[in-house]
Amino acid sequence: MHQSSIIILGIESSCDDTAAAIISDGKVLANIIANQEVHKKYGGVVPELASRAHQQNIVPVVDATLKRAGVNKNDITAIAFTNGPGLLGSLLVGSSFAKTLSIGLNIPAIAVNHMQGHILAHFIQELNEEKEIPEFPFLCLTVSGGHTQIVRVDDFFKMEVIGETIDDAAGEAFDKVAKMLQLPYPGGPLVDKYAKEGNPNRFSFPHPKVEGVNFSFSGLKTSILYFLQKELKTNPDFINENIKDICAGVQKTIVDILIEKLVKAVNETNIKQIAIAGGVSANSGLRTALQSLTQEDIRVFIPKFEYCTDNAAMIAITGYYNYIKNQDFSKNSIPNARMKL
Ligand code: KG4
Ligand code: ZN
Repeated sequence: MHQSSIIILGIESSCDDTAAAIISDGKVLANIIANQEVHKKYGGVVPELASRAHQQNIVPVVDATLKRAGVNKNDITAIAFTNGPGLLGSLLVGSSFAKTLSIGLNIPAIAVNHMQGHILAHFIQELNEEKEIPEFPFLCLTVSGGHTQIVRVDDFFKMEVIGETIDDAAGEAFDKVAKMLQLPYPGGPLVDKYAKEGNPNRFSFPHPKVEGVNFSFSGLKTSILYFLQKELKTNPDFINENIKDICAGVQKTIVDILIEKLVKAVNETNIKQIAIAGGVSANSGLRTALQSLTQEDIRVFIPKFEYCTDNAAMIAITGYYNYIKNQDFSKNSIPNARMKL
């Protein structure tokens, strides 16, 4: 390892994934995630169980990450950790671990906002390939299980939310509809899987009327519930027989709502570079719809799958830019479950 490399250990534990990553001079050397299977049977994340699983996983995950990266702990420059938003008990595990290790190694601990991490995931570089990165300013549609926002990104640390959901997040809508379809948690990826083989135009659902570039998904959820209840009355096997077309219709509606507002934001700001981030940016329908916007002289940035859903490489890259841009990271931060961007 080159002496002057800046090596950041990233730690992410905001929800139900325990993750660690090593980024050296902006390039990923290792990125490991331990998923928590324990929540599947409850149909959603159980906070107490998540904290406990983080405690079990964090040491082995960090250990494996250092080994895979070929980095000795004494060579780490700083530790970046997720400080919020997220589940408080989960955040406490990662932040306490990161701070304690940083004291032991006598290096800085850098508190990172998870949502900023999702956006800065666009700046992660692989070891042997130079990837095109967005130029400032750009717009980022951040869509996850807890957030749906359009963010104007003027610089690494100058971001402004210009629109957001007034109720449910897009990922939440995917997961709640999946639950109605009796699919296991988290249902988003399964809806995506079935949608690929279905007809998106057989069942259509109404779009909400929301001001500006804000979103709403709770009405959609209710209209799908009523639709299913009505169909199940005449055919108890309706879901089984039509799962692919239902998923395709639901996915098309959610994607259309997202794209409609994104295009509106482009027109209002005249910023023609757009990026997507967060778990729902793994959705194939959303990725395809965005690609097709490229034709209208818009530049589109879509992260690799592994950097869409929660991961620690995005926390490490945010820590890296904090470090090299001399941001103030010295304060003794306390995890904040409702941290804003
Ligand atoms: O960013 P993320 O991993 O965690 C949060 O910070 O919330 O996002 C998780 C969300 C879940 O709601 C999950 O169902 C959704 O992202 N998701 C998807 C897909 N992959 C993950 N939704 C639709 N299609 C997908 N392929
Ligand atoms: Zn996330």
